[in-house]
Parts: sequence; C-alpha cells; structure tokens
Amino acid sequence: MKIVLASDHGGFELKNEIKKILEELEKTGVPVNEAGEKIDKIEDIGAYSEDSVDYPEYGRKCAEAVVSGQFDRGIVVCGTGIGISIAANKVHGARCALCTSVHMAEMTRRHNDANLLALGGRTTEAPLAVEIVKTWLATAFEGGRHQRRVDLLDQM
Ligand code: RB5
Repeated sequence: MKIVLASDHGGFELKNEIKKILEELEKTGVPVNEAGEKIDKIEDIGAYSEDSVDYPEYGRKCAEAVVSGQFDRGIVVCGTGIGISIAANKVHGARCALCTSVHMAEMTRRHNDANLLALGGRTTEAPLAVEIVKTWLATAFEGGRHQRRVDLLDQM
C-alpha cells in the first residue's frame, strides 16, 4: 500500500507523528489489514516546516496523487482538518473523510470507501489520531449497496 501525506503548518506536527508510526509499520512489514496489505511506500509532499502555507494547495496535491493512481491512500492534516478536506474533495475521484473518532474511520472505509483521511492537528491528540489512522488502514470497503452510492459520488 502506497501512502501519501500532506499538511499545512497547522497539521505539520501531527503529520510527523503519523509518518513516524507509518514508517515503523513499513519497517516491520506487518500487514495493516486482513487482506494482508503491507505499507511499501510513504511519501510526505509537504509542508516541511511550521511556516505559514495555504492548505488548499496541499489538499489538492495530495488528492491528485491518490486519484492519479500514484498512491493508494492519502492522509491530509491541517489545524482542524476542515479546510484541507474541503480542498481534497474538490478533486474528482477523491473521497476525503475528516475523522475525529475511530468509529468514523471505520465507517468511512466500510461505507464511503474513503481514499483520503483528514485529521485536525489542533483538534485531535496524536494517540487518538494514530488509532484513527490504523483503523482506517485496517478496514475494508463493504461494497454492495454502498458501491452504488460511491459510484453516485464519483459521478458528481
Ligand atoms: C491555518 O491557520 C488554519 O486555518 C488551517 O490549518 C485549517 O485549520 C483550516 O481549515
């Protein structure tokens, strides 16, 4: 599984925490889900410091990297996760879910087949964010009636 990460300055610190955990998972080679998928690529496309930048640019770039097929999943982080998720969802084919709980992460995979996850660096503590990420990676899309709805989203 290839994962791309992006943030603005408000999400910089949390993105680094998440990157650290993902790199550990990549190094140990443990499967992240029941399908046996392992992380084989992690790329951080910025921002690379806490200097003020514009979240729309980073949300768009991350979503484009996923929708193009270059990466399987994207994780975007800004102060609240709101602005960067709005930006990501402007890219056709992106299904970016802002999650503040493990339950939301599970449901957005099961029902929305979310290919991007948004988190708030100033609103979600790192330990919870890590659990959200792990659950989001571990949970499969259910398909069935949800596929029809995802197809409707992708037609918009
Ligand atoms: C930047 O100050 C802040 O507006 C941004 O990180 C994010 O929270 C926007 O939704």
